[in-house]
Amino acid sequence: MPALFQAFRHGSLPQDGRIIGVARDELSDDAYRELIQSRFAAVEGAKRPTPEEFKKFASLLHYLRMDLSRPDDYAKLATLIQGRDAGTVVMYLATAPALFTQVVEQIAAAGLNGPKTRVVLEKPLGHDLASNRAINKAVCRVLAEHQVFRIDHYLGKPSVQNLFAMRFGNALFEPIWRREHIASIEITIAEDLGVEKRGAFYDQTGALRDMVQNHALQLVCALGMEPPINAHADAIRDEKLKVLRALKPWTPESIGLHAIRGQYSAGTAYGERVPGYRDEPGVNPESRTETFVALRTEIANWRWAGVPLYIRTGKRLASRDARIEVNFKPTPHAIFRAPTGAFNKLVINLQPKDGLELHMLAQAQNDRQRNGNRHVGPQLAPVQLDLDFDKRFGSERVGAYERLLLDVIDGRLNLFVRSDEQEEAWRWVEPLIDAWSSDGAPRPYAAGTWGPSASSAMIARDGFAWSEEQ
Ligand code: BG6
Repeated sequence: MPALFQAFRHGSLPQDGRIIGVARDELSDDAYRELIQSRFAAVEGAKRPTPEEFKKFASLLHYLRMDLSRPDDYAKLATLIQGRDAGTVVMYLATAPALFTQVVEQIAAAGLNGPKTRVVLEKPLGHDLASNRAINKAVCRVLAEHQVFRIDHYLGKPSVQNLFAMRFGNALFEPIWRREHIASIEITIAEDLGVEKRGAFYDQTGALRDMVQNHALQLVCALGMEPPINAHADAIRDEKLKVLRALKPWTPESIGLHAIRGQYSAGTAYGERVPGYRDEPGVNPESRTETFVALRTEIANWRWAGVPLYIRTGKRLASRDARIEVNFKPTPHAIFRAPTGAFNKLVINLQPKDGLELHMLAQAQNDRQRNGNRHVGPQLAPVQLDLDFDKRFGSERVGAYERLLLDVIDGRLNLFVRSDEQEEAWRWVEPLIDAWSSDGAPRPYAAGTWGPSASSAMIARDGFAWSEEQ
């Protein structure tokens, strides 16, 4: 709703559009508007509507009480929608995954699956490959693939779109974007929050399903894919799919060595003591659900073979920081002295900062350091080119959900996930799910730290280090 409001504020919503809330409670349109208005109180200051703005926005809002298991209720929805020339209808399903199949079948039975209907599916879309496939199959029986918008809000983030722009809108990086020049790639999506009020949901899910299967793997695709032949949805999704297919399959040995899971115990966040995961509301006190994952993998193809790709995500880590670090290989022959470990590096900051940093080495201004009385030669010092996209584009930026919802209204699928991509991502994580379900507990880490030490040890074995340790 905040995203729809921003779109309304920016004048991007269709003039004669309606937003119909559907749920089980008995509410009038006015009561629904009041409910939404009260919820806006929790929205960050500048994004909150003024009373005048809300009044205008509220005239778009309507409500229908529905029990999603009752065919009659879908008939009521059909009457409400078809009551006037409906134009495009977007159905946004943020329901429990167990309901997707039933809902899409009922939508079809009520004749609501015509060519002007678009259905948005909010994750989680299943909890493993089989359940994901079952949902996709049910959806594809009643809707064409181009009517289905599987949302991954990371793809709507301006920083992630910039990643595509950086790679495919510039000639600079492409020639060196390969194994000959890149030593390793590290992806970190760190959150400082715990599971908040979502303990019951999260305990059935865990970091692998919640963040890696979707958001992190979408970043891997954007980094690793070949240039698509054009900017159309299927051209892009075809290339992303190839990356997922090329990810090195897991073996019992690689799971043991290259897949670390952790669970936060009591610690500190924002200077205050915070409880451990098992003491969070809704969480099983003996839970073995992971709140941290660190993986080492590889895109096994001609471009990337042998380049280690590290993925790390977790809750209650030391800070909120999402970034990608692309480490380049050292010069083939050193004629200067450089600080140890200082190589060229491209850092793609995703959040909270959004920008690019190119780390290079320059001539140190005061290099007359002496070794005894001998001048030991030119000394290099690290410098960086820093592009701050927030500063450059600040007020023009459109939030992830706003961007994605407008794309659905316009029928643009570029930033949505196709069923085969999603299934491939599940296929890749499934051996980890299986291994961890029959294995002991995750490694504990104190809230407010960077996860279990095994994660640092894993990357250190290859001679690399996570950004905060460099
Ligand atoms: C969601 C996960 O998909 O992404 C949450 O379910 C997580 O657990 C969130 O907190 C992170 O999104 P962002 O945009 O804050 O990085």
